[in-house]
Amino acid sequence: MDAEYVGNDLDKILLSEKQIQDRLGEMARDIERDYVGEDLLLVGVLKGAVMVMADLARSLQRHVEMDWMAVSSYGSGTTSSGVVRILKDLDADISGRHVLVVEDIIDTGLTLSWLIANLRSRGPASVEICTLLRKPEAQRMSVDVRYVGFDIPNEFVVGYGLDYDERYRNLGCVGTLARHVYS
Ligand code: IMP
Repeated sequence: MDAEYVGNDLDKILLSEKQIQDRLGEMARDIERDYVGEDLLLVGVLKGAVMVMADLARSLQRHVEMDWMAVSSYGSGTTSSGVVRILKDLDADISGRHVLVVEDIIDTGLTLSWLIANLRSRGPASVEICTLLRKPEAQRMSVDVRYVGFDIPNEFVVGYGLDYDERYRNLGCVGTLARHVYS
């Protein structure tokens, strides 16, 4: 394989492209069943949720609208503090609408808790969460996550929208990084 190949930096593959796509298909069927007869607005959180949003939306065989938010969480280094600033707000007015927040990964869930409270204050008919990946810590979170693709161990993963220093988002699979990348 080419030395430039982005997958060379992976230590192990946690979820293959096929596993991810198959699971997104199952989640799409659950979502279709739960929102029969309702309008549905998918809200993606930039940038990590881009891949999940694109593939989940294409798996859904019903009408949806898509909108995006970008937030930055103030924290020290890699820990998120739960104090959040909106960098890009929704274009849509969500009052009276069914909102499904689409996420790539929930770790502590601090940013997401803030986001959900913020969205709820806008008077939507409902706000639910769909995430491809969830780490163990998130299960202690007070916010309910309605759709979870995979519960994964507490390891740093990249690929399928998830980055290390803005790279690896374009991998189709999810994996852990080889040690030589950090050092
Ligand atoms: P939380 O507020 O701790 O749930 O932080 C969630 C955010 O942290 C995600 O949207 C990701 O941007 C980032 N994050 C958490 N775990 C990982 C990981 O394993 N790889 C890449 N980014 C991660």
